[in-house]
Amino acid sequence: MARITASVYTSHVPAIGAALDGGKSGEPYWQRVFKGYEFSKKWMQDNRPDVIFLVYNDHATAFSLDMIPTFAIGTAAAFNPADEGWGPRPVPRVIGHPELAAHIAQSVIQQDFDLTIVNKMDVDHGLTVPLSLMCGQPQAWPCPVIPFAVNVVQYPVPSGRRCLNLGKAIRKAVESYDDDLKVQIWGTGGMSHQLQGPRAGLINREFDNAFLDRLIADPESQAAVPHIDYVREAGSEGIELVMWLIARGAMSDLAGGAPPKVVHRFYHVPASNTAVGHLILEN
Ligand code: DHB
Ligand code: FE
Repeated sequence: MARITASVYTSHVPAIGAALDGGKSGEPYWQRVFKGYEFSKKWMQDNRPDVIFLVYNDHATAFSLDMIPTFAIGTAAAFNPADEGWGPRPVPRVIGHPELAAHIAQSVIQQDFDLTIVNKMDVDHGLTVPLSLMCGQPQAWPCPVIPFAVNVVQYPVPSGRRCLNLGKAIRKAVESYDDDLKVQIWGTGGMSHQLQGPRAGLINREFDNAFLDRLIADPESQAAVPHIDYVREAGSEGIELVMWLIARGAMSDLAGGAPPKVVHRFYHVPASNTAVGHLILEN
């Protein structure tokens, strides 16, 4: 059967992609960010998954305000990097896993979550920057990726509780797939940041680090935190953090297993307007 081997959490700051693509990753400002991912790139090589289930948010790129799915699963054979205004990022095409994606859609919808099935979409920095941070600049991404887009752009957005429970349902779905696949689940976005208005530039180290602590040790209590607390404490775009609860919900301790092992933790300010947070948890 397939199983979730680990979960990975990381911010998705678009300027990180621009720094890599523009050959600026050696600059001291960016070196301080990339230093936190040196372990992770090595870890990815040593713990190569068969599939990555990548929870991210689309930034009105594939889905405009014309149509806003709360949860959307990418079932296509491949996904192109999106043009977000400066041309598509020069990164590999994302190869999907239609069979596992369709199986997860079937199982999770039968567990009463309403997923939108997406057979064609482009993927923006929300998905490609985490891949770049974890995998560097390869000719091809190391394995197929199932994109799972969550609406955190237009209210109402899903609660932390619903996200954690969705992660539990995804875990059951993965474990009911016959093929012997090692699946990593990634939760991306965050940490504290606000991009507009009088509070633009807001960063809250204390909130971010308390979030990391509770995500690791007490995800059920973190799941009870309402949106308004994220927005007040971590800024309007800090709400992206609820997506991390989906990945956390898929870890085995929440289904009666042992607590996950924290193999890596990193926090850094600033990257563009954002605090960068990163965790790797192994089952
Ligand atoms: C920035 C961060 C984001 O999460 C995003 O989607 C766009 C911009 C930033 O820090 O500049
Ligand atoms: Fe974002």
